[in-house]
Amino acid sequence: MNRRLVFALFALVTLACAVPVSAAEGDAAAGKQKSTACAACHGPTGNASNGEWPNLAGQHEDYLYQQLKAYKSGERQNAIMAGQVANLSDQDMADLAAYFAGQTMEIGAANEEVLELGRNIYRAGDSTKGLPACTACHGPAGWGNAPADYPRIGGQNAPYIVLQLQAYASGERPGGPGAMMNDIAAKLTEEEMRAVASYASGLYSKE
Ligand code: HEC
Ligand code: HEC
Repeated sequence: MNRRLVFALFALVTLACAVPVSAAEGDAAAGKQKSTACAACHGPTGNASNGEWPNLAGQHEDYLYQQLKAYKSGERQNAIMAGQVANLSDQDMADLAAYFAGQTMEIGAANEEVLELGRNIYRAGDSTKGLPACTACHGPAGWGNAPADYPRIGGQNAPYIVLQLQAYASGERPGGPGAMMNDIAAKLTEEEMRAVASYASGLYSKE
């Protein structure tokens, strides 16, 4: 085999490994049919009625799908959601993710009193304690990064964000590749968590 061919084959194999095993293709219309059970908490269009529950509307499709799988495998532990996904197939989860991702998130409003602290942490982090800016991964408008599975946090409910930051900080929720969110959340004080959550909840994205 000549060298160029060997190289081309090597490149192909590397590429094949880098692309994640393709998930079931989600069907939003089918997902809508299957979403009635979810509406009680997440609302019919994925905008939750209680601030401690997440909005699913407008969240990235693959992120939603991955989280549903994580509840099902037990990697992300939550008694309520474990019961919800127990009888869902892979196709059901892909369909539900496609449906909710296609809805529009209702944006919250940041609390003025903690706006400055929240904005500083969000945009600049705190180099004195090695805290990166949230913008680095979640973007200036909180949109996240769909291909990288960085969730959208702009417009998300502030009380839910605080609960998740606490769960990452304690290690109760796994924080993505390299435990990145665990490290980050562990560096935030309770006051900073509440401020940055409030700031993120008021971010509006035009994307
Ligand atoms: C009884 C209330 C309830 C019902 C019904 C419910 N959920 Fe949830 N859901 C929650 C709560 C509470 C959380 C946050 C749990 C946690 O802290 O991990 C959550 C989290 C999620 C998340 C993670 C969101 C994120 O941003 O990480 C997804 C995805 C989700 N639910 C999808 C669904 C789907 C799909 C259904 C219907 C099959 C459903 N849920 C039904 C209460 C509910
Ligand atoms: C290096 C990249 C990176 C940085 C910087 C970062 N995040 Fe994250 N964030 C992630 C990833 C990846 C996830 C998804 C982890 C998982 O699978 O649970 C995530 C998840 C979250 C979630 C959960 C959202 C949901 O819907 O459940 C919140 C809240 C969050 N981040 C807030 C923040 C805040 C606040 C900051 C700044 C203090 C921050 N993040 C900085 C990468 C990052």
